[in-house]
Amino acid sequence: MTSWKFGILAGMIITIDGPAGAGKSTVARSLARRLGFMFLDTGAMYRAVTLAALRRKLPWDDGAALVDLAGRVRIYLDDDSVWLDGDDVSDAVRTTQITTLVKHAANNPGVREQLVAQQRAVVGDKNVVTEGRDQGTVVFPHADLKIFLTAGPEERARRRLRDFQARGERITLEEVLAKQNARDASDAERDVGPLVAAADAVQIVSDGRTLEQVIDQIEGLARACGERTGVRMS
Ligand code: DC
Repeated sequence: MTSWKFGILAGMIITIDGPAGAGKSTVARSLARRLGFMFLDTGAMYRAVTLAALRRKLPWDDGAALVDLAGRVRIYLDDDSVWLDGDDVSDAVRTTQITTLVKHAANNPGVREQLVAQQRAVVGDKNVVTEGRDQGTVVFPHADLKIFLTAGPEERARRRLRDFQARGERITLEEVLAKQNARDASDAERDVGPLVAAADAVQIVSDGRTLEQVIDQIEGLARACGERTGVRMS
């Protein structure tokens, strides 16, 4: 349920940030289910804007057009799917093509401004587990619990490869690793909303552990936090 924070009614916010392939989505989605919280996959929003631009054949060097588009498209997320202007694009936003192109949206400060505002609006006063790169630093700096989840590059690339293979995409481990390195650099170097751990985040390294163990650990932290703040969980 909700609690009072700074004189306003607010839900409990758990942020999970970190690089691609650390297991954030699986961990965040499953944690949200266990706690009965809303789940917000913010990477899907950047992907949806990228897909919208691709479908409209927007030139990638036209940053202003991308900002305009980000403000006009209707992105809707539920636990398992991503919708773009009424279309189920859950698979279409996860292709390697979108993964390569998404930097144009993610590195555009105007697009980030639009999506950050949308993220705050959909969360409102709900209890949420939100995952991305800037959730604990920029979007919800007052979050109740912040997690920075990482893993070594090879471990992350192997996990990503399994995801791609499960979707029938043909790609090698070396290709996944090269793309991942490029994306890590782009995520870490941008001026607005870079990938960086919040000073008050709990840092968790998932190497050599199952995601189930990681989820158990974060669930323990979340329930302890909920007890302190009087938030009711399932
Ligand atoms: O988590 P993901 O792979 O679906 O994210 C897709 C891209 O979006 C990734 O390159 C980083 C970017 N992103 C971001 O800049 N800020 C977020 N809050 C979430 C994702």
